[in-house]
Amino acid sequence: MLQTPGIAVQMDVTMATSVEAMVTAAVQRFGRIDCAFNGAGILGASARIVESSEDAFDRVMDVNVKGVWLCLKYEIAQMLQQEPVLSDPARWADKPDVCRFRGVRGSIVNASSLAGLMPCRYCSPYCASKWAVLGITKTAAVEYASDGIRVNAVCPYLTATPMRDQLVEQSPPDLQERLIPKWYPQVAWQRPRRLRRL
Ligand SMILES: NC(=O)c1ccc[n+]([C@@H]2O[C@H](COP(=O)([O-])OP(=O)(O)OC[C@H]3O[C@@H](n4cnc5c(N)ncnc54)[C@H](O)[C@@H]3O)[C@@H](O)[C@H]2O)c1
Repeated sequence: MLQTPGIAVQMDVTMATSVEAMVTAAVQRFGRIDCAFNGAGILGASARIVESSEDAFDRVMDVNVKGVWLCLKYEIAQMLQQEPVLSDPARWADKPDVCRFRGVRGSIVNASSLAGLMPCRYCSPYCASKWAVLGITKTAAVEYASDGIRVNAVCPYLTATPMRDQLVEQSPPDLQERLIPKWYPQVAWQRPRRLRRL
């Protein structure tokens, strides 16, 4: 069990210096980075493509795509400097070449979305950004697999967070109905007034 208390670092994933400082702070505190979850993301305004602004598109791509890319860049750079951790060190002690491929230097998980696997009406920049996260994830995974660094992504459906509330509030009524079925008990408990309107 981890005995060392965690730390909080204020940062902006769209700025390389900020991401690098975050990685440095983690390494100074813990000595290495075994795992990272790149979850920072924004939804952006809900609108169809014609009504969407270029600025809104750029901002979503900045945070959701460039942010994940920058985090990978600095996290992987750090992991490459780390000694691989072997699940069974004694077994590989006299086989240094094999060790190179058997050890794990680190594991990274990026936040994509179900919107990264299918269309998402009224959220084209968000949808594009989450498809892009999967592309970056798969590329990083094949680039660094032989270095003992795993890179994966998760694609969740609606989860009760401020972003979920924002999506439901911004969406037109017909989409709200599809996003939150009336039988969804967690939402029924949290947002009874909205459910009565559906
Ligand atoms: N909640 C859902 O239903 C849902 C579904 C699928 C995918 N996701 C994805 O999961 C991830 C987490 O979402 P959430 O629901 O917790 O959203 P959230 O809005 O509750 O949290 C997002 C976090 O990202 C941070 N953030 C935003 N811009 C940032 C920046 N430039 N630099 C650093 N941090 C920044 C925010 O401060 C916030 O803490 C996101 O990538 C989101 O796209 C969420």
